[in-house]
Formats: sequence, C-alpha cells, structure tokens
Amino acid sequence: MCNFKLNLFLLFILFTISACNKNDESHSVASSSRDKAVDFVTTQDGKPLPIAETLFSTPAAKDFLHTSKNPYIGNAEAIAKGKKIFQLYSCTQCHGPEAKGQVGPGLTGPDYRYPKDATNKGMFETVWHGTNGGMGAKGIGLMDPTDPNNGITPDDLLKVIAWIRSMSKITGNE
Ligand code: HEC
Repeated sequence: MCNFKLNLFLLFILFTISACNKNDESHSVASSSRDKAVDFVTTQDGKPLPIAETLFSTPAAKDFLHTSKNPYIGNAEAIAKGKKIFQLYSCTQCHGPEAKGQVGPGLTGPDYRYPKDATNKGMFETVWHGTNGGMGAKGIGLMDPTDPNNGITPDDLLKVIAWIRSMSKITGNE
C-alpha cells in the first residue's frame, strides 16, 4: 500500500515536470518564431545558405535579416556610399560604372537572368554566394578563401543594392 502511494507520488512528480517542460518548449517556439531570421538560399541550386547572424551588425542589416526588406532603399546617403562600394569591389569592371552592363549583365532590371534578383533578398543571395556563370561570391568569408575577413558585409551589400535600385523602376522591396 505504501509502495503504491509512493509510485503514485512519483508519477505525479514526473507528470508535473514533463508538463513544465512542455510549457517551456511552447514558450521558446513562440519567441523564436517572432524573431525568426530570413532563410537564405543559394542562387546556384536553391540550397540553404547559412550566414552568421553576427555579421548583421547594424540596425539596417538586422531589419533586413528579419523582414527581407532593404531599409536603405531611397536613402540618399546610403545610395551614395553604395556607389563607392560598388567601385571598391570591382563590380564596375564587369557591370559598368552605372551598372548598365559590360562583361557582366546590366543590373538595373526589371528583368534579370535570375528572376529572383528583382527582390532584394534574391539579389543579396546572388552577390553573397555568386552564380555558376561567372559571378564570384562576394560575401565576407566567401570572396577570399585565404582571408575570412575579406569580402562585403551585409550592411555594405544592402547599400550597393540600394544604389542599383535607385537607377531602376523597381525597389526590390515590392
Ligand atoms: C569578374 C566579373 C564580375 C565582377 C567583379 C562582378 N560580377 Fe556580377 N556578374 C558577373 C557575371 C558574368 C554575371 C552573370 C552570371 C551568370 O549568368 O550566372 C554576373 C551576375 C550578377 C548579378 C545577377 C544579375 C541577373 O541578371 O540576375 C548581380 C546582381 C551581380 N552580378 C552583382 C554584382 C555586384 C554587386 C558585384 C560587386 C560586389 C559584382 N556583381 C561583381 C560578373 C562579375
């Protein structure tokens, strides 16, 4: 009889503990879906493209990570900076000084080789990880296998994209 009571008591404790765990789980699922980051994919084959969250270090980059919208669209200061970064990373050599095309295609759209480049998330992925057709990865850590700190940061890439969109009929945030 005494054993039976003890067993019941232990069962009750176990049940309480597992109920508590469930509560904790549902709590963390709720908060992680609220803070959920955008799922980036490669332009080559649509496979998951993990990018360290710590690289999204500015308010604009953090916004983009969670909304996939580029906050620099229409921001004159960011657009001017974007043009300079475009030159700095030699994008000019292949896409021309006004991104209208040279060796590489024009970037102002609205029609793209990779249709997803009409969105800012799509263009970000294409520049970050490159393509199989002559466009090398420019993302930090990917651009230069010998130096993990070399390459464009998410914030700088958003500025470049804002500059490209400033000459386009689309904003990419549609
Ligand atoms: C060495 C030459 C070269 C450089 C440098 C280069 N690109 Fe490209 N880029 C290309 C080529 C070639 C393509 C076409 C790729 C393909 O068809 O797969 C391309 C494609 C693209 C596309 C996709 C366009 C579309 O129609 O979908 C974007 C966006 C782009 N480049 C942006 C950039 C940016 C931004 C930079 C600088 C950070 C840059 N590229 C630097 C050669 C270059």
